[in-house]
Amino acid sequence: MAAILISLVYILSFSPTIAVTSNGIENDANGLQTYIVHVRKPKQEGNFSIKLDLDNWYRTFLPDNISKSIDAHHRSRMVYGYRNVISGFAARLTAEEVKAMETKSGFISARVENILEPQTTHSPNFLGLHQNSGFWKDSNLGKGVIIGVLDMGITPGHPSFSDEGMPPPPAKWKGKCELEGANCNNKIIGARNFLNKSEPPIDNDGHGTHTASTAAGNFVNGANLFGQANGTAAGMAPLAHLAIYKVCETDLGCPESIVNAAIDAAVEEGVDVLSISLGSPSLPFFADAMATAAFTATQKGILVSCSAGNSGPNSSTLANEAPWMLTVGASTIDRSIVALTQLGNQETYDGETIFQPKDFPSKQLPLVYPGVKNSSAAFCLPETLKSIDVKGKVVLCQRGGGTQRIRKGKDVKDAGGAAMILMNDELFDYGTVADNHVLPAVYVSYAAGERIKAYINSTSSPTASIVFKGTVIGKKSAPEVAVFSSRGPNKASPGILKPDIIGPGVSILAAWPFSEENITNTKSTFTMISGTSMSCPHLSGIAALLKSAHPDWSPAAIKSAIMTTADIVNLEGKPIMNHHLLPADLFAVGAGHVNPSKANDPGLVYDISHDDYVRYLCGKNYTDQQIEGIVDHDVQCSKVSSIAEAELNYPSFSVKLGSSPQTYNRTVTNVGQDNSFYTHHIIVPEGVKIIVQPDKISFTEKNQKATYSVTFIRDQISNASSVQGYLSWVSATHTVRSPIAIGFE
Ligand SMILES: *[C@@H]1O[C@H](CO)[C@@H](O)[C@H](O)[C@H]1NC(C)=O
Ligand SMILES: *[C@@H]1O[C@H](CO)[C@@H](O)[C@H](O)[C@H]1NC(C)=O
Ligand SMILES: *[C@@H]1O[C@H](CO)[C@@H](O)[C@H](O)[C@H]1NC(C)=O
Ligand SMILES: *[C@@H]1O[C@H](CO)[C@@H](O)[C@H](O)[C@H]1NC(C)=O
Ligand SMILES: *[C@@H]1O[C@H](CO)[C@@H](O)[C@H](O)[C@H]1NC(C)=O
Ligand SMILES: *[C@@H]1O[C@H](CO)[C@@H](O)[C@H](O)[C@H]1NC(C)=O
Ligand SMILES: *[C@@H]1O[C@H](CO)[C@@H](O)[C@H](O)[C@H]1NC(C)=O
Ligand SMILES: *[C@@H]1O[C@H](CO)[C@@H](O)[C@H](O)[C@H]1NC(C)=O
Ligand SMILES: *[C@@H]1O[C@H](CO)[C@@H](O)[C@H](O)[C@H]1NC(C)=O
Ligand SMILES: *[C@@H]1O[C@H](CO)[C@@H](O)[C@H](O)[C@H]1NC(C)=O
Ligand SMILES: *[C@@H]1O[C@H](CO)[C@@H](O)[C@H](O)[C@H]1NC(C)=O
Repeated sequence: MAAILISLVYILSFSPTIAVTSNGIENDANGLQTYIVHVRKPKQEGNFSIKLDLDNWYRTFLPDNISKSIDAHHRSRMVYGYRNVISGFAARLTAEEVKAMETKSGFISARVENILEPQTTHSPNFLGLHQNSGFWKDSNLGKGVIIGVLDMGITPGHPSFSDEGMPPPPAKWKGKCELEGANCNNKIIGARNFLNKSEPPIDNDGHGTHTASTAAGNFVNGANLFGQANGTAAGMAPLAHLAIYKVCETDLGCPESIVNAAIDAAVEEGVDVLSISLGSPSLPFFADAMATAAFTATQKGILVSCSAGNSGPNSSTLANEAPWMLTVGASTIDRSIVALTQLGNQETYDGETIFQPKDFPSKQLPLVYPGVKNSSAAFCLPETLKSIDVKGKVVLCQRGGGTQRIRKGKDVKDAGGAAMILMNDELFDYGTVADNHVLPAVYVSYAAGERIKAYINSTSSPTASIVFKGTVIGKKSAPEVAVFSSRGPNKASPGILKPDIIGPGVSILAAWPFSEENITNTKSTFTMISGTSMSCPHLSGIAALLKSAHPDWSPAAIKSAIMTTADIVNLEGKPIMNHHLLPADLFAVGAGHVNPSKANDPGLVYDISHDDYVRYLCGKNYTDQQIEGIVDHDVQCSKVSSIAEAELNYPSFSVKLGSSPQTYNRTVTNVGQDNSFYTHHIIVPEGVKIIVQPDKISFTEKNQKATYSVTFIRDQISNASSVQGYLSWVSATHTVRSPIAIGFE
């Protein structure tokens, strides 16, 4: 099984590239690899809530002579025995040893683990959260809720993790804090390193600190990066507790066996929300450790919030596609860190960059484009920069070509260049982000880049200046879908629309480990990065707020509330746009852009039971054994009334429509006023007829359920291969909207 790294941070400044073999992990010299082994739950002899017994049971699957053996590095061959999220274990084995195990009774499956990769001052206000009012007040800022963050670790002592104003952990909390002394407090109530028990879970990278503070960082005044984006930083749930599980290291990635072990522990320790900004490319759910572990966590009432991936804008590039996960794409906020370039012919083009040195003169400098004679030199690779004179000049470079954006700037600087204009290629078009460049730079659109190229071609002595404009708030076209945000359709389950939701993930300012250079001259350090790694913890924090305001809502109900109340228009009331400045489709935005205050009062929710998921998995034609590996109990699909994927009681629709009509039932639960009355409103996808029955639904009390059916009929032959629309249930006070994506067979 091919495992590929997927980076959920869109900029990975200078981190070393990680070399992996085709199955994602190095074979050690003895041919040992880490396998995740699923076994049948032991029969109820003995007391298997005692960890030791369970581990002994797992050992019976290993060949006798290795069950207690250690490898050449003195590591036990048994890596982890899981006891909450799956029946099974991780162990270092040879292919022959696995083969021998397959004949043992109770064995279900074994596969080599994959390696996953980790892929603010203003985003709370942008999302309508304000101190001492509205939803932040109603939800007590997430007080009492525990968010588990699986990532690179944490930076203890950072002011974002101060516990000022925070109560002690709830009585149910059973976790451990393995940080030294005072570094554990009422904010960081748990911190464990699953990669190496001998080391505290310190974040040597920054990603873990950034994601944790985005979810639940406390208020910090005067947070900024080089003076940009200055303001009060706070996570989405500023008074929620954090439980940190270190499962990744920069040069190692995030081994699935370790991620699984951390989820296993988090379930037992008592987290309410899991925030996991990690992912791998699409896999069937039974072969995806995060999906199987997330299933059990969800069944125990834990909402699992995950990144959608950074492989956009191409389609079918999603990570974390299971219907029980909240799959979060990324969008822009209305803040830009603006710079412009003015050309010798007076044309100006604006773009973005974080690094805005005050002493850089805004005068015209010679402008050069390495790709002028040879288009493959357009990417400003170091060897091509050697063959032309860039000294003291502004250099135009195109994104792509195998080097990262910030790296290009470093290469230009090293070659003597004074500044860089970074332009998009046609695929990325208008999709830019503010990067923390190492030289004066501006990142412009493809269209602007083409105009700049034409200008260079039109004169023998082209010139340009770079002018810095600082932080600008109020961009009316926000939110836009981030160009890098992974897109549907869902490969592992085409009948479920993904991503579910988009949230802030571009140029997000949040906590960062203390820098050696001490750039800010304060104890706190913040940095600005982009990725679905950043949007995921925004939604994790919002889920914590909802959990605090509605402790009785299931994970599916919280998801539904978030999805059916999402915004589908931008600040100027126009459809949310993509990187071509065209309306974005549902495979980019899912249900739309999160609106936390509305999610707090959705009116109706679509809930999903355990049995519903089992019927759904049977409908996917997974084998009984494969399903057992996911749901962790015996399943006989022959005795289950299976349902098609699109029939799951999901708050959105993804339908493959041929010539015969298709009917699906959906059940809504009233979580609004006792007496409420809804009628439906449909935005009909082109070429499709939709019949909804009944026309009206009414409730007389809270938690009452109502079922309706929706029939999709192909009406006329449309040229499009897929069309989209919405079905809403509307009352005097609520709109409960579900997106509809239809693909024609
Ligand atoms: C199993 O062991 C746990 C921990 O010792 C104990 O609390 C529980 O009551 C035991 N269960 C049974 C069925 O013996
Ligand atoms: C265990 O026994 C098998 C079969 O006798 C042998 O091939 C293998 O090398 C042994 N493994 C170890 C770790 O001793
Ligand atoms: C775990 O950390 C200890 C203490 O820093 C170190 O000596 C050991 O080599 C580490 N183990 C692994 C497997 O990296
Ligand atoms: C950030 O804003 C605060 C409050 O407005 C101000 O006191 C501080 O000087 C600003 N810092 C920077 C670096 O602009
Ligand atoms: C993404 O799509 C573009 C245009 O369709 C194509 O040229 C490119 O190869 C695709 N990239 C990947 C990684 O598939
Ligand atoms: C164009 O540049 C590339 C990359 O530097 C180089 O490999 C190639 O030989 C060049 N082609 C020509 C025609 O000069
Ligand atoms: C550059 O200008 C020449 C002459 O005006 C024109 O023929 C050519 O197409 C231009 N090239 C580009 C890349 O615009
Ligand atoms: C950075 O500098 C400030 C002011 O000089 C100092 O108070 C602070 O402790 C320094 N931070 C670190 C992490 O060294
Ligand atoms: C499962 O198998 C049934 C019967 O062969 C088929 O109709 C259905 O389309 C299959 N479902 C999926 C998701 O492949
Ligand atoms: C939908 O609900 C109706 C009425 O309860 C029922 O007759 C029908 O069988 C249901 N359809 C499906 C596909 O479950
Ligand atoms: C569909 O395609 C045909 C042939 O290309 C074209 O004549 C027709 O106008 C198209 N119809 C629509 C609704 O776009």
